[in-house]
Amino acid sequence: MGLPAELLEGGYAGLLRPVLFASHGGDPEAIHEQLIGILAAVGDAPLLRGLLEFVSSSSGASAEVAGVRFPNRVGLAAGMDKDGLAARAWASLGFGFAEVGTVTAQAQPGNDRPRVFRLRESRALINRMGFNNHGAAALARTLAEAGIVRGNGGAGIPIGVSIGKTKLVAVEDAVADYLTSLEAVVPHADYVAINVSSPNTPNLRTLQDGGALAELTSALVARAAELEARPVPIFVKIAPDLSWEQIDEVLAACEAAGIAGMIATNTTLSRDGLASSDHEASHQAGGLSGAPLTVRALEVVRYVAEHTRLPVIGAGGIMTTDDARRMFDAGAALVQLYTGFIYQGPGLIAAINAADTRRYPR
Ligand code: FNR
Repeated sequence: MGLPAELLEGGYAGLLRPVLFASHGGDPEAIHEQLIGILAAVGDAPLLRGLLEFVSSSSGASAEVAGVRFPNRVGLAAGMDKDGLAARAWASLGFGFAEVGTVTAQAQPGNDRPRVFRLRESRALINRMGFNNHGAAALARTLAEAGIVRGNGGAGIPIGVSIGKTKLVAVEDAVADYLTSLEAVVPHADYVAINVSSPNTPNLRTLQDGGALAELTSALVARAAELEARPVPIFVKIAPDLSWEQIDEVLAACEAAGIAGMIATNTTLSRDGLASSDHEASHQAGGLSGAPLTVRALEVVRYVAEHTRLPVIGAGGIMTTDDARRMFDAGAALVQLYTGFIYQGPGLIAAINAADTRRYPR
């Protein structure tokens, strides 16, 4: 067990966050790269890992979802560790699972910088990274070198791998592109997440349309069944900007294909709920995450939970313990953090886990 959640949260918000947010001239991506570098080094060194664990690890209520055992229900959302470089560090920060990626079949640079913007008053981010990543094969090598194999607990927690479409591949050829990624990562993934909901790859979100999604999901599920006797569970991550009718179509396609669970939600194209002081940054193109997404993501999670028997992983605007509790109450089996972790640090993970343990004592 690490330090108490309040101490961690206070220490992060009062001491570490001001330093982090000001470093590298305040460039969020440069700070992010440095942090991943540090966490990669920590992940490689058992002593440092132990030290980090001493400070910030937390234990919560465990859960089994889609046949995978999660030591606690608070995960790292996709996009933070795109190339899996820090895969062995996330458990020491208190996470119960981590979703690495999104990776694509071909390595690609993503959009031009700057491509991440902080909207501080709104406790939000806008990003248009565009799936910058070293490719699915490189991720598989990185995880292999770290000793992370499906089911072996090599990272201390389950590792999900998010896969997306290579930008240069036409949307009509998406199935083959996703299949290439699936084949590369499957030996190292406790689950695979199909990302069809990033707003930053042109036309990607059209893969959420019933027909296209049916074709993509059934091809991936069928291939997973050919690859392993106990096929890897495949989840589908959706956007918060879908209508209820579109979500109905998505759920029908996923259930028919044998998808194992839903992840809701990715970032939004909406600009509602922003503080007036963030007006300028609000015009940046990209997906919005953090506090302005809390209400919509919760609504989508509730709708999905009520309209399918598939388990739901809730993500989007979880900035406080109460936000996580509302996600669980709405039917989320697990939750994921990205922006809340940037603003609140590991104390938020510890606090959600502590509250979850109080509700579900072992
Ligand atoms: C993301 N997100 C994301 N999602 C995904 O499926 N694949 C990805 O590669 C990324 N990349 C990414 C980069 C950055 C900088 C951010 C802020 C977000 C979306 C993320 O996983 C999550 O779904 C949303 O951010 C909503 O959750 P939060 O951030 O409000 O907790």
